[in-house]
Amino acid sequence: MTPTSDGLPFPDGFLWGASTAAHQIEGNNVNSDWWQLEQRGGSATQSIAERSGDAADSYHRWPEDMDLLAGLGFTDYRFSIEWARIEPAEGHFSRAAIAHYRRMVEGALERGLRPMVTLQHFTVPRWFAERGGWTADGATALFERYVAATAPVIGTGVRHVCTINEPNIAAIFGAVQELGTEEPLLAGLPLPDKAIGDALIDAHHRARAAVKAISADIQVGWTVANQVYQALPGADEVTAAYRHPREDVFLEAARGDDWIGVQSYTRTRIGPDGPLPAPDDAERTLNGWEYYPQALGHALRHTAKVVGDLPLIVTENGIATDDDSRRIDYTTGALQEVAAALEDGLDVRGYLHWSALDNYEWGSYKPTFGLIAVDPETFERTPKPSAAWLGGLGRTRVLPRAGA
Ligand code: FCB
Repeated sequence: MTPTSDGLPFPDGFLWGASTAAHQIEGNNVNSDWWQLEQRGGSATQSIAERSGDAADSYHRWPEDMDLLAGLGFTDYRFSIEWARIEPAEGHFSRAAIAHYRRMVEGALERGLRPMVTLQHFTVPRWFAERGGWTADGATALFERYVAATAPVIGTGVRHVCTINEPNIAAIFGAVQELGTEEPLLAGLPLPDKAIGDALIDAHHRARAAVKAISADIQVGWTVANQVYQALPGADEVTAAYRHPREDVFLEAARGDDWIGVQSYTRTRIGPDGPLPAPDDAERTLNGWEYYPQALGHALRHTAKVVGDLPLIVTENGIATDDDSRRIDYTTGALQEVAAALEDGLDVRGYLHWSALDNYEWGSYKPTFGLIAVDPETFERTPKPSAAWLGGLGRTRVLPRAGA
């Protein structure tokens, strides 16, 4: 890969895509734990402002979503399949749901989109939650059985499978429910629930073996939320101790995988007394996170340091904003970080933007991350300028130099 005067080229075969998750776009995921939480307005301890309802109706409109992405220039699409639909009751596997997701895989391939399939993205079947969730007896074996049942979906034509999305955030969500935190988390994150974290690691390792048994050609990994913990002077040890249970434990568990997914949006600065809120003068995005596109470079480098020579794929990166020009600015900054990491020899294999569509952001439709807007009543899709811009880069595979 040689930089040219025109810009920084991405390597051959580099994944260029956008990401979504089933519960956030499909609509009416009625057999999931999240649907239940939404009907109650949250758990005893966490409030949920809006319900997902019909979401973007992508359960029916996925062909349109894929037509748009392929037409814009993207070559890769990360989506998740929904355990609660495939196994709506314990031990009952829906042939129709499996056939549905197989049609999505084939539909992607027909359009020239390589499917990256996530097997579990935050939601679990309601029956699984009711029997005690990840820490209940036999839970990880039940996940393994579900993964084996996805063979007809992923068995051919799928190169990349993500077992579990952001296990560190899932384990933190479990801890938040136990803590009863109602306050928005302005600085830092609670400690993940250790038992849930351990169970997710076991579930990942079981799922990895189950996927390999389906096809040894499938490249298996999982995707970890990187908070980019930055040590202020004198806070190196505090930062390392803070980061390890929240992030590194899950990166270490990826050793032996085929790749690791890097998900990065913002940073968290840590002082000698712990995490600090964003600086007062920082620009904040619609969900309150500090605008900090450089985060992705830090996330890639930190991940590489922990996992060694595992290939890195950016599986989520983006910004909640209603000013689409800010989305282009943010993403330009993030891609410059990817290019710099490549130039430094990091093995980055792809960039998938969060998100393809404006979607249900776990309690609210307000933080719009989408490259494509969705009308909540008609479900009409309207690509934003950022979609044409980012998809266009997928065609050239060259990032113009800053100022060019
Ligand atoms: C990540 C999630 C994804 C989305 C983005 C904004 O933590 O994986 O579903 O909500 O954040």
